[in-house]
Amino acid sequence: MKILVTGGAGYIGSHTCIELLENGHDIVVVDNFSNSKPEVIDKIKEISGKDFSFYELDLCDKDALEEVFKKEQIEAAIHFAGYKAVGESVKKPLMYYQNNLLSTLVLCELLAKYDCKKLVFSSSATVYGSPDHLPITEDFPLSTTNPYGTTKLMIEQILKDLHISDPTWDIVILRYFNPIGAHESGFIGESPNNIPNNLMPYIVKVANKELPELGIFGDDYETKDGTGVRDYIHVCDLAHGHLLALNKLNDHAIHYYNLGTGNGYSVLDLVETFKRVNNIDVPYTIKDRRPGDIAACYADPSKAQKELGFVAERTLDDMCKSAWNFILKNK
Ligand code: WQD
Repeated sequence: MKILVTGGAGYIGSHTCIELLENGHDIVVVDNFSNSKPEVIDKIKEISGKDFSFYELDLCDKDALEEVFKKEQIEAAIHFAGYKAVGESVKKPLMYYQNNLLSTLVLCELLAKYDCKKLVFSSSATVYGSPDHLPITEDFPLSTTNPYGTTKLMIEQILKDLHISDPTWDIVILRYFNPIGAHESGFIGESPNNIPNNLMPYIVKVANKELPELGIFGDDYETKDGTGVRDYIHVCDLAHGHLLALNKLNDHAIHYYNLGTGNGYSVLDLVETFKRVNNIDVPYTIKDRRPGDIAACYADPSKAQKELGFVAERTLDDMCKSAWNFILKNK
């Protein structure tokens, strides 16, 4: 199929583009480089050995996006584009609502206008808020504690209402847990432009001596070692989940899937694994808890396994090795 990939120069988008190209799909990438770099487009071509169309544009610009629909016979879309920093969203809620919601509305209007009502949406486990038990299944209650997470929840609601209004839509909503790691080539990976919000990119910068030490946000949670527990999943396994999701765009339904490993790892698990597999030090100190953090979160991935055939294969060692390999290859 010819797939429109919004945010295809981003961390998860770029890894998914490679997965799509290597499995025989054509892609059309749109990105405005607000949280990604232009050279990623060439890296995707280099890794996959395939060419594809790229358009630099803001998804909120309907006229610009419509030009793409006029030129390209889009058959389905995977929608990654959106701001995603929790802390920034608390400080700039209007920017998050405006960008994340409007871009989605523009995309859906054009998908319908050009009779291409097949959409995979990049959602997040953040829509589960603070679960009262674990592991998390797709029917858990939904709640959010920050504007970023609320945009994801709102978009899920928009897509649900859209499907009710027109059941000929094929929609798959993928709720990611914590994606980390990088493509085995080391050509692409996670490279935030400023001080990282998330754990793995912060660890990597400390290991690379770009930052003095890691602050571990709390060691007094009700977890095995007191530090926060999350379901880390290799970004390449996540990318494969999107390839499999395309197979569910054929029954005029709306589907929801957790994309996680089903394993919970603590902050200290990740730090010690990273140090061991890469034989490098990561100095850290224990800090106060980060407001809004939950103690533990990990998926029950059985629905994705049963209905998509999705199984995350890569280990925490693989995730830590590949994350560091990306830095070594791009020093
Ligand atoms: C993981 C653990 C922190 C940084 C968020 C979003 C989610 C998704 C992934 C976009 C927690 C601890 C972190 C640090 C630390 N984003 N930590 N020191 O918060 O689970 O999820 O990012 O899609 O939607 O909510 O990920 O990597 O920020 O934190 O101790 O410098 O690491 O307390 O326990 P999180 P994270």
